[in-house]
Amino acid sequence: MEQPKMATREEVMQALAQVMDPELGKDIVKLGMVKSVDVDGDAVRVEVQLTTPACPLKHVIRRDVEAAVKSVPGVASVTVELGASVTSRPKEKGERLPTVRNVIAVGAGKGGVGKSTVAVNLAVALAKNGARVGLLDADLHGPSVPMMLGLANGRVETIQVGDQELMAPLEAHGLKFFSMGLLLGAGDAVVWRGPMLHKAITQFLEDVYWGDLDYLVVDLPPGTGDVQISLASLVPISSAVVVTTPQDIAFADVRRAVKMFEITKVPVMGLVENMASFSCPGCGTIHHPFGAGRVRELAEGIGLALLGEIPLDPRVSTNGDLGIPIVIADPDGLPALALARLAGTVAARQSVLNMGPG
Ligand SMILES: Nc1ncnc2c1ncn2[C@@H]1O[C@H](COP(=O)(O)OP(=O)(O)OP(=O)(O)O)[C@@H](O)[C@H]1O
Ligand SMILES: [Mg+2]
Repeated sequence: MEQPKMATREEVMQALAQVMDPELGKDIVKLGMVKSVDVDGDAVRVEVQLTTPACPLKHVIRRDVEAAVKSVPGVASVTVELGASVTSRPKEKGERLPTVRNVIAVGAGKGGVGKSTVAVNLAVALAKNGARVGLLDADLHGPSVPMMLGLANGRVETIQVGDQELMAPLEAHGLKFFSMGLLLGAGDAVVWRGPMLHKAITQFLEDVYWGDLDYLVVDLPPGTGDVQISLASLVPISSAVVVTTPQDIAFADVRRAVKMFEITKVPVMGLVENMASFSCPGCGTIHHPFGAGRVRELAEGIGLALLGEIPLDPRVSTNGDLGIPIVIADPDGLPALALARLAGTVAARQSVLNMGPG
């Protein structure tokens, strides 16, 4: 009697070489994402390693892997295990933060547009996906993030790491966090000038024990001042995300912020439109009080991507004040869904940038 045909590992690998990573634009075998293939009779188990756990298309990759392997004669069942190992661009010797894979700065030209809100929710959303995330509040004059994370009364402790005494970041909502606000008493004000700001930022990078991180999100103060320039000179920033509201008054500041990042050699990943739309609490109709599509036009005009559009919703603000980021307080609401989508987009684009050209 003829034996039923058994698939070989090579045949499975050939089938997997047909599966493209939709974002990276290459097949998953060439990208080194296939970690293992086990063929046990007619059952196949494939382990695929994504470049970020926040990959927005992971269900597509899973589906494509299943279909490709099932098409191999002799395969009856497929188990796909998706893991992730976050990529980094090549590090240079002596760089600060050697154990941090990506530094993502969230900036804006204008104050009050929602940088801190976007930075906090972006960081928490990445952590919710399973990434190791830190959040540095680099707004030395107006640190607002401790409150947004419920850490307004948090105090810093030191830890001994080898022969160094370092400051331990605080932990909240699955991420590590540090802020000038943790070193100040409530209501204290920082009145420093350039060199002292530079020293403070240096300390945040050198004297805080960040450990192994996939993403360090940095919330920048508004404008194009000393803190931004210091940060860019002290550590290679993987990407900057620029937040704006859809009003003309903010647009000139966006251009200035983008220019500053270009001058300081920080790659700008794109713009985020905050307070883009408003859903009527009575009837659910979506309104665009400042006009629809204007930030997209602005982004296209300066050759940048629009990474996300976050609606205006009073719950974003009230939960922020209570110390519970909206992606945790109301994960199924429109603002949280938009912020979670933004996190996926940022993570995926960072993976593409890390792959480099070619
Ligand atoms: N999408 C939103 N819907 C409702 N309220 C929002 C939204 N985004 C931000 N806010 C609120 O707007 C206020 C300003 O936001 P936030 O502090 O994040 O801005 P910022 O750009 O960091 O400000 P600053 O320039 O002072 O650092 C906060 O009260 C915040 O809760
Ligand atoms: Mg802020």
